[in-house]
Amino acid sequence: MLISPWRTDFPALSALAAEGQTYLDSAATSQKPQAVLDALLGYYASGAANVHRAQHLPGERATRAFEGTRTQAAHWLNAASPAEILFTRGTTEAINLLAYGLEELFRPGDEIVISALEHHANLLPWQQLALRKQLRLVVLPLDSDGGIDPEQAAHLIGPRTRLLAISQLSNVLGRWQALSDLLPLARAQGAFTVVDGAQGVVHGRHDVQAMGCDFYAFSSHKLYGPDGVGVLYGRSDALAKLKHWQFGGEMVHSTTYQSADFHGAPLGFEAGTPAIASVIGLGAALDYLSNLDHAAVAGHETALHAKLLAGLAARDGIRLLGAPQLALASFCVDGVHNADLAHLLTEQGVAVRAGHHCAMPLLHSLGLQGAIRVSLGLYNDGEDLERFFSALDKALELLR
Ligand SMILES: Cc1ncc(COP(=O)(O)O)c(C=O)c1O
Repeated sequence: MLISPWRTDFPALSALAAEGQTYLDSAATSQKPQAVLDALLGYYASGAANVHRAQHLPGERATRAFEGTRTQAAHWLNAASPAEILFTRGTTEAINLLAYGLEELFRPGDEIVISALEHHANLLPWQQLALRKQLRLVVLPLDSDGGIDPEQAAHLIGPRTRLLAISQLSNVLGRWQALSDLLPLARAQGAFTVVDGAQGVVHGRHDVQAMGCDFYAFSSHKLYGPDGVGVLYGRSDALAKLKHWQFGGEMVHSTTYQSADFHGAPLGFEAGTPAIASVIGLGAALDYLSNLDHAAVAGHETALHAKLLAGLAARDGIRLLGAPQLALASFCVDGVHNADLAHLLTEQGVAVRAGHHCAMPLLHSLGLQGAIRVSLGLYNDGEDLERFFSALDKALELLR
């Protein structure tokens, strides 16, 4: 039996269990450890205050905690400096920031390269930029396992490539992309490299300097932190090329009615009051995660994923999408509509995701309108999977 020693750190798991719910949708959003709930309540209960503005005690305390998270996030990603960490609303806003912030550097006919598996968050901002600036959006094809083939990529990334934006770990196919092969292809052309770390950041530790990317984005809410905040890492020289994109409080050195002198990164890209409590909560999540035994977490996640794959493989008529390596598995069942199956799983208290997973072009390229996705957090255990499989068997008996 696979037991998660961390399960009891997450009060929502027992609350959900009391309602008969089995939560297997962590790739959409994660549950939060008590330490994060305490940090959120602690901030509000001890006196909310705005950051970077006030000299008073609560203001100083909030600013210290807020900036503390920036330092923690820099350590977490091994960024060279906290100034390379920008707080955004999430991965989506981080990538939109880049698509606007880099816009002036593109010329008609330049190419932006993404892959066929990208989440809409790493497709639509580039697609719209391409439309605004008459650029070509090049889509790297996948192999049958759901990986971007570096050989094909080598043909498609060329002198016109100005930017490569790819996911580290697919939210549908659960495969690590070969960043160490792919990013150098873009770098050799002098192109920007953007890594969507929304799913990847949750599993293992990642070093943006070793990765060699210009930008790396993730969302707190998938990494056991609160929603409403995300991180955009940018190497300092890459950040220096970004144009400001949102304007308001605390992002200028000075302004007149006619013109302004903006801060650089990070504050120049954080106009307005940020999600202070959420940033502090993200700090608590990073603290919590930093103190875990990483080898034990990785071992648990690997064993749980193997059990998930084995259970799916043992059942007839299940078509797995790609060859997932970790964290999740998406599948459909011959002759069964995924919405019907999802409905019956939901009725039995199993919380999985069904649909296109915000990767519509990928699903369509596989000839599908949707699929069921089971995704795992470090708090899931063998019993969760047994409840899922028993619900799946009952649902399939009814539907076939
Ligand atoms: C791979 C990937 N990229 C980007 C996103 C967007 O994240 P958010 O909605 O937190 O901005 C997601 C969310 O599911 C994702 O899985």
